[in-house]
Amino acid sequence: MSLSFEGRVVLVTGAGGGLGREYALAFAERGASVIVNDLGADTKGGGKSSAAADKVVEEIRAKGGKAVANYDSVEDGEKLIQTALDAFGRIDVVVNNAGILRDRSFARTSDLDWDLIQRVHLRGSFLVTRAAWNHMKNQKFGRIIMTASAAGIYGNFGQANYSAAKLGLLGLANTLAIEGRKYNIHCNTIAPVAGSRLTETVMPPDLVASLKPEYVAPLVLWLCHEQCQENGGLFEVGAGWIGKLRWERTQGYIVRQKNQSMKPESIRDHWEKICDFTDATKPANIQESLQSMVSVLSQVESQGDVGVNPAAAAASAGLGSGIDPTKAVGQKLPPTTFSFNHTQCILYALGVGMSTKDPDHLRFLYEGHPDFSCLPTFGVIPSQAAMMDGGLSSVPGLNIDFTQVLHGEQYLELYKPLPTSGKLTSEATIADVLDKGSGAVILLDVNTYSGNELVCYNQFSVFVVGAGGFGGKRSSEKAKPPVPPPKRSPDAVVIDSTTRDQAALYRLSGDWNPLHIDPSFAAMGGFKAPILHGLCSFGFAARHVLKQFADNDPSRFKAIKVRFVKPVMPGQSLQTEMWKEGNRVHIQCKVKETDAVVLAGAYVDLHGASGASPENLSQGGGLQSELVFAEIGRRIKDVGSELVKKVNAVFGWEITKDGKKAAQWTIDLKSGSGSLHKGPYGGKADVTMTVSDEDFMEVVQGKLNPQKAFFSGKLKVRGNIMLSQKLEVILKDYAKL
Ligand code: NAI
Repeated sequence: MSLSFEGRVVLVTGAGGGLGREYALAFAERGASVIVNDLGADTKGGGKSSAAADKVVEEIRAKGGKAVANYDSVEDGEKLIQTALDAFGRIDVVVNNAGILRDRSFARTSDLDWDLIQRVHLRGSFLVTRAAWNHMKNQKFGRIIMTASAAGIYGNFGQANYSAAKLGLLGLANTLAIEGRKYNIHCNTIAPVAGSRLTETVMPPDLVASLKPEYVAPLVLWLCHEQCQENGGLFEVGAGWIGKLRWERTQGYIVRQKNQSMKPESIRDHWEKICDFTDATKPANIQESLQSMVSVLSQVESQGDVGVNPAAAAASAGLGSGIDPTKAVGQKLPPTTFSFNHTQCILYALGVGMSTKDPDHLRFLYEGHPDFSCLPTFGVIPSQAAMMDGGLSSVPGLNIDFTQVLHGEQYLELYKPLPTSGKLTSEATIADVLDKGSGAVILLDVNTYSGNELVCYNQFSVFVVGAGGFGGKRSSEKAKPPVPPPKRSPDAVVIDSTTRDQAALYRLSGDWNPLHIDPSFAAMGGFKAPILHGLCSFGFAARHVLKQFADNDPSRFKAIKVRFVKPVMPGQSLQTEMWKEGNRVHIQCKVKETDAVVLAGAYVDLHGASGASPENLSQGGGLQSELVFAEIGRRIKDVGSELVKKVNAVFGWEITKDGKKAAQWTIDLKSGSGSLHKGPYGGKADVTMTVSDEDFMEVVQGKLNPQKAFFSGKLKVRGNIMLSQKLEVILKDYAKL
């Protein structure tokens, strides 16, 4: 379907010529009512004329479009928005495009050169956008474009003033993207290249002529359309090509040591490591950026216990046997590529039991359907190839018997709805190897990209029977833990039958393990008959949730976690029990005929109906904090004795809801190997904290600083207040909940 702007009111600043004119014409052509703003200045910001804007308005009207002119400078932001309101009654889209140049080498840049550039580009965009903001907020829709420039991103001789303003706009956009998100106001930034009067002095004439503004405008239209969920992006665009940019950060190096001062010499000596982009990370937000830095504090603090470099420390511990985490962890498997089209998407949908019997399944089964989509759980298929190709067997330090491998758990997170065709590349890393005594658990993290864009992340947790006892750790902060369902009857139950040929059909999506088709092979594994793929039941359960709670809308699907407990035989019926807690739907899947639980500790996380807003988490009753305490309980089970050593205190929690006490918890990290209790318990807590359910979640998610919460009265503390500092040890890692 073509993208229409019918009913939308669009302001384009500096639309009297160049790129702005092209945007205005393109929006109008697709039905928008356009405010064509232009001061009619010369390229340096001098002079003023209404002719430029009038001409574009005439052009639009001559083609039957709707437009009005505005001749104010962007420095009079309110007036521009008022023109929109007077003429069309609303404002939906602001394209900040007006601009001038005052190029000088830095030494010759005058105050005026500097100020004028900042005023038109940075202050002008600020004033216009601020004037539109509350209107957008109230109507819960807005799309904003900032115009940056390669000069800002990379620097350019003679453009110090302009570069500073242009990258300033990116900073502005980054924050607007965050503040606007929950109101469906999206803000993106473009760095265009096009022939215009601004570039005709620096580019040869034939290039000016061939780099047409019409090769930039379509991106602006897409970013400003209601269908576009992109927010906070930065794009270079020109000549018909578009690329997205993001930050990359080296792994870095800790140059400080416990109880020693930090010295410039140590930085000099590790400079290469500090600047080495091998395995660079891509922090996407300030939390991700800070998290790693804050974790350095505890890493430095624990030096001496485990050593600065965990790999080296473990190696010196002399671990033998078939598994050597020091060699295996961090190893990458060879990248795999996966090309597909609608056939694979449809085959997969059939494989997880979709049927034309249900009319609403058609969007996943018919490529001609207007909303044809790929099921979100198809995201496991491209990444699986990394394992199927035998990559694991070539990893140093993983000398294991592959006939003893079981698929224990699966986590999948999507960063955008899956495409229905294309080429995806998957990169797998051994995230961790755990020693569970009876076996080893290998955590395999797989990132799947379309081009350079991260589409989804999978964590396979592979259990290797009999490979434990190599002296490794039992748990990992990298694991995505399963979460038990609430202790009440489910909010919804769906029963769905698998067919006799379900596994035969599902394997065509790429899991060719004979265990699922060959009776003699299954018998060797101790099964009466070939069993259904765990990931097939996983697909069933996920689509039950998608239908029950997200209207079969794949863009609402965020993540899924399951633990595979028991096999299912093809032909048996699956019973998916669901509990909705905010945006999380807990699931448990049973075989109806035997009542055996097959998927446990499972959940699906959904995005809220109007975009992904963590604010929506609380809807649907229940306390959000219950989730966190459930997690804390699990963690105590895993590493309680360690925590008792570190913390040695009893914490009481009183959680309030709507001003009333709603729950009470006690975390005992003083006796035994630690324990969690709902309600008051035994001895007195050393410190008791009272906080509302909402504020508790804010603190846990790292959005509310505990000190701030305390000083503003949101968090009340009784008892030994100093102990509350130790809370970080217990609460950290839950930010992702
Ligand atoms: P242009 O000079 O053709 O268009 C800019 C328009 O803004 C002019 O019509 C001008 O009258 C208007 N304007 C200037 N000051 C104004 C003010 N205070 N209030 C209202 N209108 C005002 O230039 P072009 O190339 O179309 O540039 C558009 C935007 O794209 C600018 O922000 C520019 O910095 C940016 N850009 C352009 C590149 C290119 O290759 N053309 C490269 C990188 C960035």
